[in-house]
Order: sequence, then C-alpha cells, then structure tokens
Amino acid sequence: MLRRVKRPHSRLSALLRAATRARKHAYAPYSGFQVGAAVLAGGRVFSACNVENSAYPLCICAERNAVGSAVAAGHRRIDAVAIVAGEGRPAAPCGGCRQVFAEFCDLDAPVVYASTAGRSVITTAGALLPDSFGPADLLAESLRPAGIVRDPARSAARIRGARKRRK
Ligand code: THU
Repeated sequence: MLRRVKRPHSRLSALLRAATRARKHAYAPYSGFQVGAAVLAGGRVFSACNVENSAYPLCICAERNAVGSAVAAGHRRIDAVAIVAGEGRPAAPCGGCRQVFAEFCDLDAPVVYASTAGRSVITTAGALLPDSFGPADLLAESLRPAGIVRDPARSAARIRGARKRRK
C-alpha cells in the first residue's frame, strides 16, 4: 500500500491523459471552469473531475476528488499528480489542494499542470507549498520518544491512535 513507485515521472503522460478524460465529466455549471486530475498511487491511476454544487462552498476540486479516490482504495502515498485546467494558460492547483498534496505526497513528488492547449508546468508537491504545515506538526513532544512518527505520510493515523490510547 505504501510502495514507492520508482519512476513516477515516466507516468506523467499517462496521468495527463487520464486527467483529460476525467475533465470531460466535470460538473461545473456555475463557474464553467472544468478541471480534471489524476494521481498515481500504488502503481494505479485514480482520476476525477471537479464537482460543483448550487450551494457554492460545497464545490469539490478535481484534485481532492482524485486523492480521495486513491485513499478510499487504500493508498495513502501519492507518487505523482497531473491536472488539466485552463484553455490557454495552465491553471495551477488551489491552495487547499496543495495542502492536500502535502498530506499524501513526498516533497519531491512530481506535479504537472497543463492547459487544454497542451502547455504544461512541471513542479513538485514541495515547491507548490514550501514550509508547509503537516502531520508532523501535530506531534506533541511527548509522543516523539514513543516513535509515533517516522514516516510523515503515515503519521496522521498514528497520532490519532496515540491520542485515543492516551484518553
Ligand atoms: N477547481 C479545481 O477543481 N481545482 C483547483 O485547484 C482550483 C479550482 C475548481 C473548483 C470549481 O469547481 C472551479 O474550479 C472554479 O473554481
């Protein structure tokens, strides 16, 4: 489940194709802005689109939907992300989605965002959200000696477990 994919960069084209396909299903009647995203996790591709709602704050970003699908399938490490949004200029992921990448991606996990015209930007999860808040920040000093967190990608669940045990 936490297996690292050796060459996530080599999968970016396939991820972009999956994101392009998912974008076609975007439900974006309010903004008219369609987004497709695909993430690589456990060697598999999970893709999704943005899903809006007439109660505007409930709109869900494509990236978060894709990450959620991977997590629901049991994958908590995201090895690469691709996003397709914007017609001329590629639209970068929003701040909320960057925080979600920080939860599940290594700092060097590749993130590519592309426009429908084929222009693309390749960056990393770490570059998109430098000096980010993350699972390790939730650690109380008292939990450290117990070895609760070694692997940040798994730490949130362990912290919750440790808190329950301490109650
Ligand atoms: N959107 C995404 O899907 N991902 C982002 O990173 C930014 C914005 C969606 C949300 C909403 O449906 C539409 O784009 C306009 O904000």
